Amino acid sequence: MKKEVVVFSGAGMSAESGIQTFRDSNGLWEKYRIEDVATPDAWRRNPELVQHFYNQRRKQILESKPNEAHILIKDLEKEFNVTVITQNIDDLHERAGSTNVLHLHGNITLSKSSGPDQERAYYPIDGWELKLTDLCPEGYPLRPHVVWFGEAVPMYDKAVALIKEADILIVIGTSLQVYPAAGIIHYASKADEKYVIDPGIAQMNIPSDFQGIEMSASEGIKKVIQKIRLT
Ligand code: APR
Repeated sequence: MKKEVVVFSGAGMSAESGIQTFRDSNGLWEKYRIEDVATPDAWRRNPELVQHFYNQRRKQILESKPNEAHILIKDLEKEFNVTVITQNIDDLHERAGSTNVLHLHGNITLSKSSGPDQERAYYPIDGWELKLTDLCPEGYPLRPHVVWFGEAVPMYDKAVALIKEADILIVIGTSLQVYPAAGIIHYASKADEKYVIDPGIAQMNIPSDFQGIEMSASEGIKKVIQKIRLT
């Protein structure tokens, strides 16, 4: 029987692909105010700015490639049943070949209606640019398929159910500051091996039953793979 490995990733996972994190120095939230670009209120007040912000993110993501850490996580599927739960809105886990990826905060390569029934359907975007004149079948402007601050996280319960089944939990490249997403790590009650990979681990307050690996995503995942192969 293959062991169940759950990988819980954040922005640091894609840092080596050249995608900025949010809360590091030089992170995105130093240049933009969350309340201007990543809330339902921001969309009501200035949809052009919100659309522009996410168009830039999408352009950068489409120009990026999966890094070594994404590939190593994909390769883990040869030995383990692997589920990736990501906070990232990029599709680099999928492009690396991971087959079981759950996006807690959406997927920027898709759009959804800005009308009342937003989670009913997700629509592909042609290229990197979503325009305010692009409409859903009901006639509402399409918005990025991302979860904004102040919005519900529709995939949360599913993520909790998946993490409860983990034999091994690998948390990688997340500051664990944004809830409810960060809270899912506390539901890994079955897992007897839990790791946090992050070069900034010294500043983090990780639970005592987690082993901290103070490394970048690609170096840290190599170290964790060595460890879990031995068990
Ligand atoms: N390898 C691994 N981790 C790294 C690397 C790297 N090369 N570079 C930076 N990191 C770490 C940082 O030390 C930090 O702890 O990645 C983490 C990134 O943290 P955040 O920027 O806060 O990103 P994340 O935790 O994913 O943010 C959660 O907040 O803004 C929202 O919706 C957005 O999904 C996002 C959520």
